[in-house]
Amino acid sequence: MSEERAVTVLVAVQSPDEEAAAVTVLGAQPHVTVARRCAELSELLASAEAGGGTVAVVSGDLPGLDREAVARLRVAGLRVVVIEDPATPAARLAGLGGDAVVAGGDAENLVAAVRGDGQEAAAPPVPAEPASRPGTIVAVWGPSGSPGRTTTAIELAAALAGVGSGAPRRTGLLRRPRPVPQPHGSSTVVLADADTYASSVTSRLGLLDDAPGLAAAARAAGQGVLDVVTLAGHSPVALPGVRVLTGITRASRWPELPASSLDVVFQRCRELAAWTVVDCGPVLETDELLMYDTRAPQRNGATLSALHAADVVVVVGGADPVGLQRLVRGLEDLRDAPVPVPAARLVVVNRVRVSAVGRRAEAQVRDALARYGGVGDAHLVPDDPAGLDAALLSGRVLAECAPSSPARDAFEGLAARVRDLVPVPVPV
Ligand SMILES: Nc1ncnc2c1ncn2[C@@H]1O[C@H](COP(=O)(O)OP(=O)(O)OP(=O)(O)O)[C@@H](O)[C@H]1O
Ligand SMILES: [Mg+2]
Repeated sequence: MSEERAVTVLVAVQSPDEEAAAVTVLGAQPHVTVARRCAELSELLASAEAGGGTVAVVSGDLPGLDREAVARLRVAGLRVVVIEDPATPAARLAGLGGDAVVAGGDAENLVAAVRGDGQEAAAPPVPAEPASRPGTIVAVWGPSGSPGRTTTAIELAAALAGVGSGAPRRTGLLRRPRPVPQPHGSSTVVLADADTYASSVTSRLGLLDDAPGLAAAARAAGQGVLDVVTLAGHSPVALPGVRVLTGITRASRWPELPASSLDVVFQRCRELAAWTVVDCGPVLETDELLMYDTRAPQRNGATLSALHAADVVVVVGGADPVGLQRLVRGLEDLRDAPVPVPAARLVVVNRVRVSAVGRRAEAQVRDALARYGGVGDAHLVPDDPAGLDAALLSGRVLAECAPSSPARDAFEGLAARVRDLVPVPVPV
């Protein structure tokens, strides 16, 4: 039986007949008040965020209705009930993240959904994860100052995919053999560029930057239509075993990477590949204190979404006095991040060199991190300008252009440590 608690409904239904029917049936219920009939989504959002209701009843064909809009309604404290429309597949509506989806004209279920009864009719808030062998998310984060996040993400992705260990070599920039993708193989990797300040995976791998794959996947997720096939279509194979979700081409496009959509993208990535390595931006804070509109999109939402989803967070800092100090503060920032970051952490200190740290550079770095950051097991990557410059110049990874470089060894070692950290190892 339903609880007799008061329910205030905001209605935004596209078809006038459907709207009238919904208002009539809801208005006849005890303890249910239809507070507002909204002509469009913006009016609904404004009313919801002004505290005007406890439940939103929206039609699936309402222009602009997407995952981000539903997320905003839910953040404003409303249950969201979506009424199916003939033109929109039910699966798409379920993917929007509402609390329930009811058929058009189904008054009984509409009332139950508005009251919060009949959970069996509720749509899943996000598409369900696959039951077996979900892939692992590795977020590569680090403070500002270019400590080597992108380098680490690319090299880690290549190492996890086994690039250079028997896989065919590429013969030249833009003349790459396109290996047949193995969507669920144990060493397949998705490399996602979620840096909303300075994305660079595209140019680092010599790819065309015409269409940001991650933004396209986020758009599909926002519309509730991102399945694993669509995701594969947006993530071309750039290296043997490595698909790339390219980043935004200009920093000003950051609103195309909303967290509510990326949450779904990362879930889908778990189905597409054994590993997803995410190159994150450096900044963690939310902008809420700075904005009068507290529901505004967040520039750092992409990074926060990746960190929240991650099973392993690789924290990269630079091996010089400034870099180490930022790394220690960065670890504190990560602990205080505005979203929970439950993942295991692995600290990488990059570009270890005597010229910036002094004699016995490795020992100095370890001592400093243990003393000031409480990190006793940092993974050190040596400075390797010859190897990394060759990689930059050719648009390749170290395994292809400098296979015996010391940095490559270190990144292979990092991949081994990441594999060890994964709670449920992916079967080979
Ligand atoms: N171990 C290394 N040895 C030598 N050079 C390195 C090493 N790691 C990274 N670099 C170089 O340092 C520069 C910055 O690296 P990278 O772009 O990976 O940093 P980032 O943290 O992603 O920076 P951004 O703030 O631009 O995102 C690049 O030119 C890269 O080739
Ligand atoms: Mg970068």
